[in-house]
Parts: sequence; structure tokens; C-alpha cells
Amino acid sequence: MSTYSLFITGTDTGVGKTLATACLTALLNESGVNTIPYKPVQSGGIATAAGLLAEDVLFYQDVCSLPYTQSQLCSYCLEPAFSPHLAARETGVHIEPAHIHTQFHQLARSHDVVLVEGAGGLAVPVAETDSGLYMTTDLIRELHLPLLLVTHAGLGTINHTVLTVEYARSYGLTVIGLLVNQMPAVPTIMQQDNIRMIEKLTGVPVLGTIPELTDASPSGVRQALPDLTQHIQLETILQKIKA
Ligand SMILES: Nc1ncnc2c1ncn2[C@@H]1O[C@H](COP(=O)(O)OP(=O)(O)OP(=O)(O)O)[C@@H](O)[C@H]1O
Ligand SMILES: [Mg+2]
Repeated sequence: MSTYSLFITGTDTGVGKTLATACLTALLNESGVNTIPYKPVQSGGIATAAGLLAEDVLFYQDVCSLPYTQSQLCSYCLEPAFSPHLAARETGVHIEPAHIHTQFHQLARSHDVVLVEGAGGLAVPVAETDSGLYMTTDLIRELHLPLLLVTHAGLGTINHTVLTVEYARSYGLTVIGLLVNQMPAVPTIMQQDNIRMIEKLTGVPVLGTIPELTDASPSGVRQALPDLTQHIQLETILQKIKA
């Protein structure tokens, strides 16, 4: 069991979990904390002659120059861009939670921090068998991971953020903080108030923002990293995941 790792979830698919995971990995490694990202299940794998490529893992590797193969950072890469349970069923893959546990623990043994990126949001089925559903929340609970919730400052965020935090709590999970992605340089009154309101309604602090980047490619993200240290409370995140 690792109490020094973190599950990165989001209010929805595409909210910026991969970009946030890559930034946190790079910043933590730069500050001397040996950190590795891990994507248990990637759907929407890119078919190539060399096999399926996991887009999120490629992004981590590009931003952070990680000396690992895809299979070390991702347990299941599935081609259909569906929820993992359906992508697996459609391709005849059996997702085995025990395999994910083993891989996570291997990474946790050799690193200070493992940043585990979920697929989509929190209410996502990982696998469906005759004995029932295995949900993302089951995985998080079994791995004893606290959560960091990636969200945004725009319209709809109050509803999505509050629902996700309450859903997490209903499964006994702890959200240590919110990370507001794609934060405009000059937030509108609505965006400022949305941030105030998500903190107030959830009681969960915003532990960082990631600016809206004009270039969100891996090289653009690498260039933005020095500036990000001012926007992300790395020390607080570390203290909360060590607790
Ligand atoms: N701060 C940002 N500035 C500009 N573009 C961003 C930012 N964050 C994310 N994006 C863009 O939004 C898209 C989705 O981001 P990302 O892949 O990180 O989301 P995700 O939550 O990991 O999605 P998935 O659920 O597919 O794993 C990407 O095309 C990315 O380039
Ligand atoms: Mg992603």
C-alpha cells in the first residue's frame, strides 16, 4: 500500500488530467521527488504498425523525458475510444484489477510518488464481469489513494465539481484539492466567482491553477513549466498526500 501517491481525476473527459499529470510529474521530479505517472487503462489507443499507442503515456514521456516503455506506464491500452469496460469487451480484453494492483505497487516501490491518471471522470466503469461492475472508485479505494480533482473555471464547473466531490465522498474517498485548468490570464467575474464557489460548496481548497496555454503541445508545456511553479502549491500537495 502506498500512502504517498495520488489519483488524478477530472470533472469530465478532456478537462486536462493528462496535461496536469505531466506537469506535476515534471515539477515534482525537478524538486527532487522521484515521481512517475501511471495510466491503468487507456482507451482510444492509436493503431500503428508497432501496436497500439497510448496517447496519454506519449504525452507524459514527451513532457518529462521518462526512460520507460509504454507497458511500464500503462496496463491496458485499448483501441476503441469508449469507457474502459466497453472498449475491453469489444476487443476481447479481460481487465484484471489484480494486474493493475501489481503494476501500481511495483511502481510505488521504486518511486516516491505515483500519479495515477483515471480514464474520463470518476463515475467510470473499469470492467464488467458476470460477478458485477468494477468501478474507478473501487480501484481508488483498493489502492488507498487520495484524489486530486482537475476542473475548470468556466460555465458548468460548479455543478460538475460539486457532484464529483460529493460522489467521491459517498464512496469514502478523500479529495485533497482542486486543480483549476485552462485558467485565463485575466479571469472574468464569473470565472473568479466560480472558483470561490467551488471551494465554498465543497470545502476542498484549490491547490493550483494551470494557465490556458497558447501551445499545449509537449514542447509548449515544457516551456510553461518554470512559470507553473508559481501557480501550483507543490509543497501542500505533498504534505496532504503524505498525511
Ligand atoms: N492548460 C491548457 N491550455 C491549453 N490547452 C489545454 C490545457 N489543458 C488541456 N488542454 C488541451 O485540452 C485537451 C484535453 O487535455 P487532456 O488530454 O490533458 O485531458 P484529459 O482529461 O487527460 O482527457 P482524457 O479523459 O481523454 O484522458 C488536449 O488537447 C490539451 O491540449
Ligand atoms: Mg488523459
